[in-house]
Amino acid sequence: MTNNVHDTALARGGFPADFIWGTSTSSYQIEGARHEDGRVDSIWDTFSAQPGRIRDGSSGAIACDHYHRWPEDLDIARGLGTNAYRFSIAWPRIFGAGGAPNTKGLDFYDRLVDGMLARGLQPWPTLYHWDLPQALQDRGGWMARDIVHHFTDYVDAVTRRLGDRVPQWITHNEPWCTAMHGHMDGMHAPGIRDVASALQASHHVLLSHGLAVPVIRANVPGARVGAALSLHPIRPATDSPEDIAAANRHDGLRNRWFLDPLFGKGYPRDVLEAVRDAAPRIEAGDLEAIAAPTDFTGLNYYFPEVIAAAPGEGPLHARVVHREGVERTAFGWEVAPEGMARLLERIHAEYRPKAIYVTENGSCYDDAVEDGQVHDAQRTSYLARHLAALKDTIAQGVPVAGYFAWSLLDNFEWAEGYTRRFGLTYVDFATQQRILKDSGKWYRAFLGGTPAVSKFPQA
Ligand code: FCB
Repeated sequence: MTNNVHDTALARGGFPADFIWGTSTSSYQIEGARHEDGRVDSIWDTFSAQPGRIRDGSSGAIACDHYHRWPEDLDIARGLGTNAYRFSIAWPRIFGAGGAPNTKGLDFYDRLVDGMLARGLQPWPTLYHWDLPQALQDRGGWMARDIVHHFTDYVDAVTRRLGDRVPQWITHNEPWCTAMHGHMDGMHAPGIRDVASALQASHHVLLSHGLAVPVIRANVPGARVGAALSLHPIRPATDSPEDIAAANRHDGLRNRWFLDPLFGKGYPRDVLEAVRDAAPRIEAGDLEAIAAPTDFTGLNYYFPEVIAAAPGEGPLHARVVHREGVERTAFGWEVAPEGMARLLERIHAEYRPKAIYVTENGSCYDDAVEDGQVHDAQRTSYLARHLAALKDTIAQGVPVAGYFAWSLLDNFEWAEGYTRRFGLTYVDFATQQRILKDSGKWYRAFLGGTPAVSKFPQA
């Protein structure tokens, strides 16, 4: 186990000199300030107000109060020694269902970006990390084709404002989650459970990505654009032909449904056959638009899945097998650093993106504060082992150019509310006090950061 950075060959110097090192967050999970400066409601405000949707009945109305505390939070990111920071822009701070962009919302991200640049942090904005304006949901949200034009209008406004300082842009975070958690299993906002709606939504998410790429390129000199996908290594539970076929179908919807069209291969035929009546409406030119060349692929990696055939279960007649005796985080997610290596190799071998960034990777444990410290040895071990796997993968020639740990801060973990802590920094949500966990100190030692308190412009 590589818990101590000094006992191992694992060090920043073992990675490419120009490697991007960051942490990741998202707007709804940390910002709070629900109605400030003209922000309108998002689908997560609506969803979290519905009884039974969020495990602890909470919402992101206050969250980490990052909207007001961002200078302190960026100081933490800088103190870690990271050179980049991935965050997301809240669409409902910029637009409701149309009209002119909200200047005060744009001003906030302007200040935030300048705050990053002042601290030597490269800004890595994500344009959509799930907080759709409720007013657009009322018009059908991602299920309605019109959404793609609302999205490009929003992307146009944001990239015009920030494009002079921000070359790298992530269009979407985890289209699978937007589509499937949002519209198939209903675990996320807007909480719909309908296979056809989910697949139609997935098509519109992908199309909106493809149409946004040229908008960003037109507004941003030297733009570098990509999407961040949640992907999973998938294995069959046994070597029976049924389980192998089920695992392939599951891989089809989890992984290939998004990778294939983004890389010009269209939707996977086996999935289209499996979902038949629920297949999305695709118009002429859509697949070409989705396949707009990008500059990188973002990988959000958390866990592998083992799949068995399950006739009658879901559209794919497949189920996830819960294997006993494997290491898991407090969320129940299997810990498998080699799974990340396998995925990175696969993406490189089968799709050849120009570069890959691990845009999220991290773990959730039941942290406790003891004498003002958080001894999260398991998270440190998780982080160190994933970085070791990453180093080996790069050594084998896979062009991974950066790593963003999820997350800078404990935050609102969607349907789990505040019950799941993923941060390198502990947040006491009652007092908003931040405490760098041992894992954060480990990352700082690995990166060679300095804990010094810095004083940067506050606004
Ligand atoms: C990912 C999400 C991110 C966070 C982590 C734990 O799926 O992109 O917002 O919730 O999981």
